[in-house]
Amino acid sequence: MTIWVPSLDEISGPRYRAIANAIGAAITDGVLTPGERLPPQRRLADALGVTVGTVTRGYAEAEHNGWVVARVGSGTFVKQPAVPTSFDMGLTPDDNPGMINLGLSLPPPHPLRQQALSDALSAVSRSPTALARGVSYLDARGNKEHRQQLAEWLEGLGMPLAADELLITQGGQHGISLVLGTLLRPGELMAADALTYPGAISAAQQAHLKMVGIAFDEEGMRMDALEAQCARQPPRLIYVTPDQNNPTGTCLSETRRQQLVALARRYDIWLLEDGVQYLPDAQRGTPVYQLAPERTLFVFSTAKVLAGGLRIGILRAPTPLLEQLAAGLRAQSWMVPPLMVDVACHWITQSAAHTLLEWQTEELAMRQQLAASILSGYTLGRRAHGSNVWLTLPEGSRAVALCERLLNRGVKVSSAEPFCVGSAPAPQAIRICIGAAVDRQVLTKALMMIKECLVQPPLAPITV
Ligand SMILES: Cc1ncc(COP(=O)(O)O)c(C=O)c1O
Repeated sequence: MTIWVPSLDEISGPRYRAIANAIGAAITDGVLTPGERLPPQRRLADALGVTVGTVTRGYAEAEHNGWVVARVGSGTFVKQPAVPTSFDMGLTPDDNPGMINLGLSLPPPHPLRQQALSDALSAVSRSPTALARGVSYLDARGNKEHRQQLAEWLEGLGMPLAADELLITQGGQHGISLVLGTLLRPGELMAADALTYPGAISAAQQAHLKMVGIAFDEEGMRMDALEAQCARQPPRLIYVTPDQNNPTGTCLSETRRQQLVALARRYDIWLLEDGVQYLPDAQRGTPVYQLAPERTLFVFSTAKVLAGGLRIGILRAPTPLLEQLAAGLRAQSWMVPPLMVDVACHWITQSAAHTLLEWQTEELAMRQQLAASILSGYTLGRRAHGSNVWLTLPEGSRAVALCERLLNRGVKVSSAEPFCVGSAPAPQAIRICIGAAVDRQVLTKALMMIKECLVQPPLAPITV
């Protein structure tokens, strides 16, 4: 079989970089196409008369430049055209004002939310302690009083954590990035569900990690698949969303939580547990950080409970890692702005915070029932109080075509691509963020539109 062999004669500089640049040029010229596998490194090295190490470095450089992706055990592949991340999809500025944007996972809007923010801001502006903190530099882990207040709040939500094991971050996303960038070295392997939160995928890419997607079923990540991966190449860290996978809503069973911990202990793997997608206590399983406190980092944030704009996250880490993580946080931004933490801490002490969360929990349950009833007959992944619904399309339908059709009718949802780990093909499914609709009336309109577009033939590529 002939292989792609670039001509390096015209390209100056180190040979490894010439190989990377030749890959880039071949992709631009259409000689190498998305999804195509690059030649085995030894064969290319022989053909070019260079060492295998030079080709390895060239491929790594091409990966660093974002042109190719290395898949553990199967080779290096030309990247598929960039797909928008959920951040892009939710936030494109050119939306028409009438667009119903169900692309971003948000808690349902309520006037009490703005009121709670306004009250907290007023209280902070009158608090001498908060003002003194606001004009100063503080411990990178966050002020002790703040950590204590947040720990009490978390305990009230059914997540008992000690203030001493916490760091305050700029949101859950920052907590994930901080852990990956601080504890792992470039090139190390991170495992996650084969479909997972795109922010974790982006953070892994930014930290120059390799990622492997682990198959899952209705009980969450499959432990036989994880064990096979560990036997081949154990990941350095496993990222899990045990109570509610984003996007599929899948919950990791208690048995599998135990198996996950046993595997992590056997292969000495860090666990990064993400609880940002809030669910009421009764709907959650045993926290992984309680099962394996010595190796679990836990990320939570105010985003899905109070407000996304506050950017306050809580990171729980095993004690021996705290100083290393604090050093990472200090290097990035010294500390989280204490004024914002004070705003969050005032907010959570208001009785309105409790009322709002109770309302939100009930509201999401009603929205879930609405989605289940309008989309009855379709395969839905959802939790009774979750803010997302994962709709698997009927055989033969294409999710990208459905999203495009819906967009043309003023409804924005996400297809599966941004959630895919590695270059495995995306399932034909869409994520509907039911929390994001202004109210249930608007949500009903959007769900009816989705239903209408689902039954309209053909859902093969549409012609616009
Ligand atoms: C699973 C998960 N983790 C983390 C985040 C990010 O949280 P934050 O807005 O606090 O950065 C999100 C946001 O949607 C999420 O769904």
